[in-house]
Order: sequence, then structure tokens, then C-alpha cells
Amino acid sequence: MIFEPITINGVTFRNRLLRSSIGGRTAYYDGTVSNAWKNFERRFAEHGVGGIVSATLNVGPERWSPLEYPQISADKFIEPLREGVSAVQALGCRYIIQIGDAGYHTQTSLFSQRADQMSASNGFDLIYGYRTRSSAMSIPEIEEVVRQFARAAVRVREAGCDGLEVTASKGYLIHQFLNPATNRRTDRYGGSTEKRFRLLHEVVSAIRKAVGRDFLFGIRLSANDFNYLPVNLRWPPVWPPQRYWFGNTIEENLTYARQLKELGVDYLHVSNGFGFINPKENPGDIPIDEMRMFFNSTRHLSRKGALRATLLNVTPRPLLRRLLGAGWRYRQGENLEDARRLRREVGLPVIANGGFQDRSYVEQALASGGCDVVSMARPLLANPDLPRLFEQGVEKPEKPCTFCNRCAVRTTLFPLGCYEPARFASLEEMEAQILAWSANPEEAEATPYHRARRGL
Ligand SMILES: Cc1cc2nc3c(=O)[nH]c(=O)nc-3n(C[C@H](O)[C@H](O)[C@H](O)COP(=O)(O)O)c2cc1C
Repeated sequence: MIFEPITINGVTFRNRLLRSSIGGRTAYYDGTVSNAWKNFERRFAEHGVGGIVSATLNVGPERWSPLEYPQISADKFIEPLREGVSAVQALGCRYIIQIGDAGYHTQTSLFSQRADQMSASNGFDLIYGYRTRSSAMSIPEIEEVVRQFARAAVRVREAGCDGLEVTASKGYLIHQFLNPATNRRTDRYGGSTEKRFRLLHEVVSAIRKAVGRDFLFGIRLSANDFNYLPVNLRWPPVWPPQRYWFGNTIEENLTYARQLKELGVDYLHVSNGFGFINPKENPGDIPIDEMRMFFNSTRHLSRKGALRATLLNVTPRPLLRRLLGAGWRYRQGENLEDARRLRREVGLPVIANGGFQDRSYVEQALASGGCDVVSMARPLLANPDLPRLFEQGVEKPEKPCTFCNRCAVRTTLFPLGCYEPARFASLEEMEAQILAWSANPEEAEATPYHRARRGL
């Protein structure tokens, strides 16, 4: 089934394997995509995935996530995006741009600024975001965000993409409004399950109106928020405690998903968890060294940033592993059963994500009706030729992704690539692999690392 084409709202994908969002420092300082982005995306298309979902591109001029990530907050970004998108499409691969707003989860900034703490409600969160506090958005600010989403959606269409995806997961702004632990509003945007959905409702309606019914449009949705992972250090707590610890569960999200279908959404891209990185979205190890690197790199931005970095530096590694590592483990197809339920009970096409790597497992997930499509990020970063290997009947690549999660945190500071030393004969080899990602494909394929991989 993996290689059976699928058509969703008029867009046909040549197979059921998608490259999931991979954000990285692939843009110039102002957020215009660079050749590094074009070459990076093209590599996946060349190796046979049916489609690519882009990194989360920022809809507004503020709340970047993080610096030097591609933007879609102004018309000037359209043309450079179009070039890269058409290069991918020329290889038979579909391209979907994912758009979002990080809200108070904005992890870094050129200079610390108040816009980076805007959210559904006032609060404090030690783990996510760099600003000391989060602040409730005013109604005009919310209305502006809705307009920004609609304008960004039009730009996605103008860039020649095959589709558009909105991130309502990852603990980003829309998710902060959906989640009862971070949305304590009492106006029309909070106070009940229904009212917390209002921002997403308005964003989806505005986008559909702006791009029309015939444009492929999906939502990235967390099936369960699991607020307790990693360690939940948010203030104030909310009542009942269940809401604080779990946030929305699949039951609330099923009601949201049904409404999304009625609003004209074409598919759901299912993950889990609240916040990036998260053990339910990125199942695997907790990358303690990388987290220290990242938190130290943002310590100058706020008092919270300084406190967080100090705590991480002074806490002995085994203790840190116990505290922050709760719930971190690898499980293939972490979110498959939730995807299956959403697919069955909502009736929209569903993309499952999280920890897929073995051919037979992917095949079984599709054949058993758990999902319509599977998306992968880390395994493709480790082995971009995975679709070709699957086509040849290979069950697993020779040096599979170990789900160490180093790439997921390093992305904020370093070039994209695989940072798992165990997968390489030497550090030089690992470095060559990383540097090759931004080269144009012909050059990259000619590097000693890639020649050796192909046995030349
Ligand atoms: C380096 C890296 C960058 C990522 N960037 C994004 C992003 O910009 N937007 C997003 O929705 N998910 C992002 N993700 C999450 C992946 O899309 C995916 O959900 C997650 O890695 C689990 O899938 P996997 O097990 O196939 O890697 C990123 C993951 C990695 C490893």
C-alpha cells in the first residue's frame, strides 16, 4: 500500500510517504529562504517521498521560531519560495507549506521583546518560551493574528504550493488557546471547550474564504496534550487538576476534529503532546547535552532564561535524566492508535506521524486502516533514500535513525543534519554528511561521504 497513490482534494501524491516538517536555519537573516533550504528540500523529493510538509513558517513579523527560519509574513517571501517549490514539484513530489505562530513558545529572539510572550492568558512556564511571563492577547491582537493567518495562506497559494497546513499543535499559539491549562480566559475565546476552539475556528474560516474550497488544506493536531510531559512547571495551576496535567484529551480533540471537517478542512496530520520537543511527538531519548546547549544560548534573554540554564547546568546529569526524562522512550508509531481513532470517528484522511521507520510497520499501519499516509522526519534526515529502499523491499536501512533526538534540538543552533555519532565511522564523516545537506544535490552526491554510501 505504501506505493499506492492517494488523492486528497484533487491533489494526487505518488505514494503514502511524506517528509514531515523539519525546521532549520535555512533562511537569510530576514527570513527569505536561501539556497540551503532549496537544496535541503530537493534532496527528499529526489529520493522519492510523495510529498513534503515544510517547516512551520511564521505568519507574522514577530514571534520568530527561531532566528534564520523561513518566514511567510510578507509578500516579498513568495517568489524565493516559489523557486524551491517548483524544483521539488518537478521531481514529482508535492509540496505543502505549514504555517504557524509560536505564541509564548517563541524560543529565541534577536532582542528580547514583549511580543514574544503573547498567548491566551497570563502565566509562567519554566520550560517553554524564553520570556519570563506570558501575557493575554487583547481582542484586536487576536483579530490581527487571524488576518495574518489568512494573508499567509494566500501567499502559500501564490507560491505555487500544492497545499497548506496550519499548526494547531506543538504548544504553539492556537494550541495555547485550545489547551485548558494555558487558556484561562473568560471572554469569547475561553471558558469552555467550545470557546477555546474559537481562535482555530476563525483561522480556518478566514483561510478557507481567502484560498477557496479547492485548495488542499490540513491541520496539524495533537490528539492528546499530555501537559505533564516533560516536567510540567507552569503557573498558575488550573482546576480540576486533570486539566492542568492532561490538557485536552482525545475526547475534546475528536469534537474539534469533527468541527474542522465541517469547516472544510481536508486532512488531519496527527501528533501528540504540547510543546516541541515532546516525548509523544518525538519518541526516543532526551538529548540532555543539546538541551543544555540550547538553554545556555538563550540565557541572556530573560531572568527565566538565566534561571533555567543555571538549573540545567548545576543539576547532575543522572538526576536531570530522571526529572526531565520522564516519559521519554522510543516506540514505533507512537501516535498511530490516536490517528486510527480520529480517522474512524471523524472520517477525514489522516496522516500519522512519530517514530515510523520499518517498512513492514508502515505497511501494516496503512493496510490496517490506521492512517491514509505516514509522515517521517528524523528517519529521513538519517536516511533520505528510505523511500527508495522501501521500494526495493528493504525492511530497514543499514544504519537506521536511533531517535537520539540530537537533531531536533540542534536545529535551533546548528545546520540541519544527523548528529548521532554512533551512525558514523568518524566525526569527519558525520560533519561531511551535515555540510552536504545545503549543497546542491549534484555537488552533495559527489562528496566522499555520499560516494562511499553508494559504494563508489
Ligand atoms: C530537526 C527537526 C525539526 C522539526 N521542525 C518542525 C517544524 O518546524 N514544525 C513541525 O510541526 N514539526 C517539526 N518537527 C517535528 C517533526 O515534524 C515530527 O513530528 C517529529 O520529528 C516526529 O516524527 P519522526 O519520528 O518521524 O521524526 C521537527 C523535527 C525535527 C527532528
